[in-house]
Amino acid sequence: MSEKAKLILPEKTIELPLFTGSEGEKAIDIMKLRQETGYVTFDPGFGNTCPAQSKVTFLDGDNGILRYRGYAIDELCDKSSFEAVSWLVLFGELPSAAQSAEFAAKVAKYSRLPDGILKLYDTMPKETHPMVLLSIGLSALSAYYPDLCDPKNKEQVEEATACAIGSMLPLVSFAYCRNQGRAYVYPVDPKSSNASALLKMMFGNLFVVDKDVEDVMDDLLILHADHEFNCSTSAVRLVGSSQANLFASLAAGVNALWGPLHGGANQAVVEMLLAISQENVDPEVYVSRVKQKDSGSRLMGFGHRVYKNYDPRATIIKKTCDKVMSKLGTDDPLLKIAQSLEKAALADPYFTSRKLYPNVDFYSGIVYRALNIPVEMFTPLFALGRLPGWIAHWREQNSDALNRIGRPRQIYQGAVKRSMT
Ligand code: SDX
Repeated sequence: MSEKAKLILPEKTIELPLFTGSEGEKAIDIMKLRQETGYVTFDPGFGNTCPAQSKVTFLDGDNGILRYRGYAIDELCDKSSFEAVSWLVLFGELPSAAQSAEFAAKVAKYSRLPDGILKLYDTMPKETHPMVLLSIGLSALSAYYPDLCDPKNKEQVEEATACAIGSMLPLVSFAYCRNQGRAYVYPVDPKSSNASALLKMMFGNLFVVDKDVEDVMDDLLILHADHEFNCSTSAVRLVGSSQANLFASLAAGVNALWGPLHGGANQAVVEMLLAISQENVDPEVYVSRVKQKDSGSRLMGFGHRVYKNYDPRATIIKKTCDKVMSKLGTDDPLLKIAQSLEKAALADPYFTSRKLYPNVDFYSGIVYRALNIPVEMFTPLFALGRLPGWIAHWREQNSDALNRIGRPRQIYQGAVKRSMT
């Protein structure tokens, strides 16, 4: 598209280039706006602003579409694995058997954490949230692997990628073990899937990983693998734009993800459901309470900046809930509360007029609960799934010719020049 936009300002009129993405998304290139007009754009929360072009993930929020490198998530859940999807997200294609084996061998070199990191885990206060441990552990990797920290060295970037992937599984699993007072045990079978290794490292090598349960965990990891320029991925990109190393950038992603408006929502949803259950309040009454702006309550797990339709991941996870419950013969009363909340909200113009639908976090916690995973581990599991996406975006930005340090402008509204005399 070589068309241009005409911007008519009080002082002058300029033309701005237009361009289109491979899926038809349209953009106005304002890279020269301030230089040519002295104006900047004002866009709190960046809802209308793209800091870069990307080939990793395509999201269509109006039609509920999510594709990694062109492949739809439901097809990847049905036919692929988290290991293969991680390779796809990182390198752009589904791996051959040889590529999978070669990458697994590289990752395996880093699958045992430096003892010092586990000592860091053990020195933290008993009730430390696992996301704090993840943030410490990822940052500490740059101290234990200083030779993998030069973002301009291609060999170091490849090794750092494998190191982060290999380290994340024990960082997450041992955060659980530490808080449960369990020993740090690595899986006996080094060739086991991430899903199986995760459950064995959390619950012990004698834990029998049911194939259906392994498939559910694998699907959950796939569904969290990437989501274009969400808050935490943008944090990874912004920190990486200063040429900070991969580990420091990933720690920034973990810290951004922890917030209850973002990845912390999966924990907040179950805490909301538990509160509703303990208060024995009717879900419809709770929904009405949420609509009172001064109530301070939000329907956690509902709403999304991009999806103005049902989050396709929530559709898949909701089906998984039923599958896991019937498989494990469990019946979680929180699922019924969640279903009643969804029914009440989607029948209420307050939600439908604002296009608020269940997002990825609304049902995921219920699946984790069915697998006996404690609520404080929900967001670390989100981080484990999102890791390949974070790394893919950090690498993509690192090799983007247009990449420069992220430095937004502001409009100053403070005190004008004054003197103390
Ligand atoms: C994730 O970006 C990503 O891709 C994120 C993610 C990923 O994979 O990386 O998809 C993962 O973070 C999912 C979102 C998890 N967060 C939650 O479930 C928390 C609850 N949701 C909200 O706080 C909210 O919907 C956000 C944060 C998700 C989106 O916020 P926006 O886009 O800034 O929307 P907003 O706060 O401006 O809300 C618009 C209106 C407001 O009402 P009005 O001012 O128009 O009257 O909708 C209302 C809001 O009050 N609203 C809600 C609501 N979410 C929005 N009202 C009640 N309950 C909610 N959950």
